[in-house]
Amino acid sequence: MAKKQRAKLVVGNWKMNGSIAENDTLLNGLVQRAATLESRVLLGVCVPYPYLAQVQMQLTGTPIAYGVQDVSAYTHGAYTGDVSARMVAEFGVTLAIVGHSERRTLHTESSKLVAAKAQRALEANIIPIVCVGETLDERRAGQTNTVIHAQLTAVLDTLDKDHVARLIVAYEPVWAIGTGQSATAQQAQQVHAVLRKQLTTRGGIRVPLLYGGSVKPDNAEELFSQVDIDGGLIGGASLSEIDFLAISAGSL
Ligand code: PGA
Repeated sequence: MAKKQRAKLVVGNWKMNGSIAENDTLLNGLVQRAATLESRVLLGVCVPYPYLAQVQMQLTGTPIAYGVQDVSAYTHGAYTGDVSARMVAEFGVTLAIVGHSERRTLHTESSKLVAAKAQRALEANIIPIVCVGETLDERRAGQTNTVIHAQLTAVLDTLDKDHVARLIVAYEPVWAIGTGQSATAQQAQQVHAVLRKQLTTRGGIRVPLLYGGSVKPDNAEELFSQVDIDGGLIGGASLSEIDFLAISAGSL
């Protein structure tokens, strides 16, 4: 009997984009056409907080999961502007991106803080998508493996084994995000293999590893066919129903 292929996971990261009207069109299109994808691909969208009520309304009862792009490192209290994992869980959120490079850079988030955020998400029954990735300078200096290893180690050192087993990890080379210059399938696979080894050693199981950074309909299939790439985290292209679905179809 042929070995059953694991379902691929394709998650959209809307970043700070959208409006109620635009979201309505995009979500309706996704819901209608998601049914045409086989069950071997799972879809999700991570949206700005103000749209949680909308996605809850439009996606509840559909196969499309939804989530947020960050959560607070704290549970509650005097943290003006923060939003806790428990709050978003009340909207049926099941996914939370943590440690995206835009937050690490623009909001100077450390790997330790990212680890605390991952922990808060898991405590609220939300699966964190932990992002790791090197800058172009770090890659050129031959530090890619060291950088991503250290970013992931901070998270693995904070979480207990049960929580590690529930993680999703996304490799997003900083130089590939929003630049149109994706990592090659070989470059991505190489780093995914390193992450896989590190995770297997620490958690003992196979957690989903997503690739992110300029994934488009024309490179998705090759990226997703790599042995250690379990799907993608899609930024710009997730705002187009046609592109997002074409990328998802590329994972089949
Ligand atoms: P991109 O972004 O697909 O627009 O490169 C990916 C991400 O930042 O998650």
